[in-house]
Amino acid sequence: MTESAQARLVVENACLRYGALDVLAGLNLTVGSTEIVSIVGPSGCGKTTLLRCVGGLNQLNGGTIHIDGQRVEKPLPSVSMVFQHFGLFPWKSLWSNIAYGLKLRHRPKDEIASRVAEAIELVGLKGFEQSYPHQLSGGMQQRAGLARALVMEPKLLLMDEPFSAIDAQTREQLQFEMLRIWDRRPTAMMFVTHAIDEAVLMGDRVVVLAGRPAHVRAVREVNLPRPRDRSVVSSPEFIKLREQVWHDLFDQPGGTQARVQ
Ligand SMILES: Nc1ncnc2c1ncn2[C@@H]1O[C@H](COP(=O)(O)OP(=O)(O)OP(=O)(O)O)[C@@H](O)[C@H]1O
Ligand SMILES: [Mg+2]
Repeated sequence: MTESAQARLVVENACLRYGALDVLAGLNLTVGSTEIVSIVGPSGCGKTTLLRCVGGLNQLNGGTIHIDGQRVEKPLPSVSMVFQHFGLFPWKSLWSNIAYGLKLRHRPKDEIASRVAEAIELVGLKGFEQSYPHQLSGGMQQRAGLARALVMEPKLLLMDEPFSAIDAQTREQLQFEMLRIWDRRPTAMMFVTHAIDEAVLMGDRVVVLAGRPAHVRAVREVNLPRPRDRSVVSSPEFIKLREQVWHDLFDQPGGTQARVQ
């Protein structure tokens, strides 16, 4: 997916500075309209910053970001974000948390009711509509965060380490649930993760960033068939890709291994 004409997201020469700190310096990236692009890179290299810029929450100092040809200068209604730490309103029920964005957009009540019900069903939280976040497990809260993003039917979904605060078993479950959700309704997605396995499992491409400032160190095409199930993780292609991404991340240009942060 290199042709800008087909891309949903085009990041061109993105530069961002926090004071004296260059975080992004001339970063280029595209995401196709039904493509999942996994992003990996060392801690602090600028992954969240990049996502926030695409989400219109941070402004670039140079370069441009376009979504379906529209320049991103503020948050766009066609983009939703899922964060590592859920970000639910503790004082609102699950139902109200998920309905919040649609209410802000003044959607009719019956439309809100049906879309929220569908999103809750999609993430497997039926029966918990009236529960408050503190009454839900971490995995359930993350499902709720996901439902809140999906209910908006985004054209681009930005996911910032969505499963990293969750235990290993639930995380694996959520990875496959997310893949099933995408199979039903394919959309463009940027998926930031620290886990190489997860990056390969989810992505059509894995973009390896190096910092600082953040730049693209390597791009790996993931030609594993979809729909993907558990059998894919033991396939030779998967294992080979995982190795390649590992080396992209940790091998220093000079030959010695980079320190893992
Ligand atoms: N609001 C801010 N003000 C100043 N510096 C910031 C701000 N947000 C992030 N930074 C700095 O920008 C750099 C990139 O941060 P960012 O959060 O994007 O990294 P990251 O790749 O997401 O890291 P992690 O993998 O740990 O989540 C870091 O050096 C961080 O200290
Ligand atoms: Mg981050």
